Amino acid sequence: MGWHVNTKIQRMVQRKKLNLFFLITMFILTVFVTSHYNTVQRIHPPVKHPIGGKVQTPKGEKNLPNRTPIHVHRPGPMRMVQEVDCQQIIEGNEDYIAHASEIMNNTIFSFLNDSQIEKIALNCDKFLNTFDYSRFIVSQIELDFPIAYSIITYKDVVQTEKLLRAIYRPHNVYCIHVDRSSGLSLHNAIKAISKCLSNVFVASTLDDVIYQGYSRLKADLNCMTDLLNYSDVKWKYLINLPAQEYPLKTNSEIVKVLQILNGTISIESYYDKASHYRTNQTYKENYKTSKLEPTGKIKAPPPHNVTVAKGSAYGTFSRSFVEFALRNPKARDILKWTEDTLSPDETFWATLAFNKELGAPGIQYSASGVPNRKSWITVGVMWQSKGPAREVCHGMTSSKVFLSQFLFLSLQFGKALQIHHHGYLDR
Ligand SMILES: *[C@@H]1O[C@H](CO)[C@@H](O)[C@H](O)[C@H]1NC(C)=O
Ligand SMILES: *[C@@H]1O[C@H](CO)[C@@H](O)[C@H](O)[C@H]1NC(C)=O
Ligand SMILES: *[C@@H]1O[C@H](CO)[C@@H](O)[C@H](O)[C@H]1NC(C)=O
Ligand SMILES: *[C@@H]1O[C@H](CO)[C@@H](O)[C@H](O)[C@H]1NC(C)=O
Ligand SMILES: *[C@@H]1O[C@H](CO)[C@@H](O)[C@H](O)[C@H]1NC(C)=O
Ligand SMILES: *[C@@H]1O[C@H](CO)[C@@H](O)[C@H](O)[C@H]1NC(C)=O
Repeated sequence: MGWHVNTKIQRMVQRKKLNLFFLITMFILTVFVTSHYNTVQRIHPPVKHPIGGKVQTPKGEKNLPNRTPIHVHRPGPMRMVQEVDCQQIIEGNEDYIAHASEIMNNTIFSFLNDSQIEKIALNCDKFLNTFDYSRFIVSQIELDFPIAYSIITYKDVVQTEKLLRAIYRPHNVYCIHVDRSSGLSLHNAIKAISKCLSNVFVASTLDDVIYQGYSRLKADLNCMTDLLNYSDVKWKYLINLPAQEYPLKTNSEIVKVLQILNGTISIESYYDKASHYRTNQTYKENYKTSKLEPTGKIKAPPPHNVTVAKGSAYGTFSRSFVEFALRNPKARDILKWTEDTLSPDETFWATLAFNKELGAPGIQYSASGVPNRKSWITVGVMWQSKGPAREVCHGMTSSKVFLSQFLFLSLQFGKALQIHHHGYLDR
């Protein structure tokens, strides 16, 4: 973890990088969708509309080496990135990657602000057309395998909507937790969007999320409670995401992975002595400073003699695991115990998974009885830090929940993630 980026210029640079990243990823999704085109069914006829963000064309290219034409015409869904041939990037063509980087450096991106998106979303036809929610290509296999999403957001509707659009399918269900302390324009815009999409809703309880506090975990629990109670979609798995995340896989690919999981879950969980400080004293959320503060009081050991484990706040949860976490009496005792600890979102899921005797469903244990690392495939998180990760990380964005970063060329990152079997790019 490192530094906050505060100057306007740096923000501009990071936005530029971010947007190319998004555009490239969108394109990769399009390629995947196109390749499945002949075997899947259309839900709605195609309509063509511009995307929500405005992209101005590059300010002029310098002499660049010969490369294949970038306007490749393929049948099927609308192509959203015209400036770059992402296939070249996927194939790791260094020359082309430099070219794409230069295009990005010379492109001015502008984004709609929260109120502008709200204004569009107040007219649902306009919203659906502008952001291209009018057509989806979904196979029967996907229709038979609905997924629930819990999305946590506190700023930038434009980014939240981009994530939503990438993972949105009419047969899934999406709960969005909007930080209670965020501005009215964010709340209004997300509310307006959710009114246009019948399977998207705002969590019925909204918390003021404090970094590392219980409120962060509570935000997910609020959505999970609502999602369990959502009767229109009998979802099989739930994936929780911060709005700063972006998928590296299509819905169809995610379904394939979940089918292989076959009811097991993907939640990071291991024992880490160095994390004891998080639970061996008590902490308190200070709503005046928006910070979690240690109280200096010794914390009693956890209930049911469980070993406190460490893991990620994000994972892929089966429906029965969510039911267990929310309803099992021992799980509830453990949850209650985490309320005054540091980063309970990185403790609660992990601890349920780690302690075999609790009987949480869907955990894969290795021969030695600890959760199997091979199943941790949900999220790839790159921290701003010294070391090799720094080399592959370009572009960054800060988040209230974490300091976070994006890659501007997803391919470099994509490769790293493939090695780790990760499905999502975090922040
Ligand atoms: C793009 O800009 C960054 C810094 O703003 C620079 O480091 C990089 O070399 C530039 N890339 C190209 C291809 O010009
Ligand atoms: C959004 O942009 C519009 C048009 O540029 C501007 O009038 C408005 O004040 C902005 N709203 C916010 C919340 O920034
Ligand atoms: C579930 O929804 C029903 C009605 O839709 C409501 O009465 C009930 O309180 C909800 N349960 C929970 C746990 O939210
Ligand atoms: C999937 O899970 C079911 C029930 O837990 C089990 O009977 C079946 O053998 C599993 N299938 C595979 C391919 O592992
Ligand atoms: C709490 O755990 C940390 C290790 O994370 C350790 O250094 C510290 O001494 C412990 N404090 C108490 C009061 O046990
Ligand atoms: C608590 O768990 C430890 C191992 O984690 C075990 O050695 C001990 O016997 C347990 N105590 C009780 C009271 O169950």
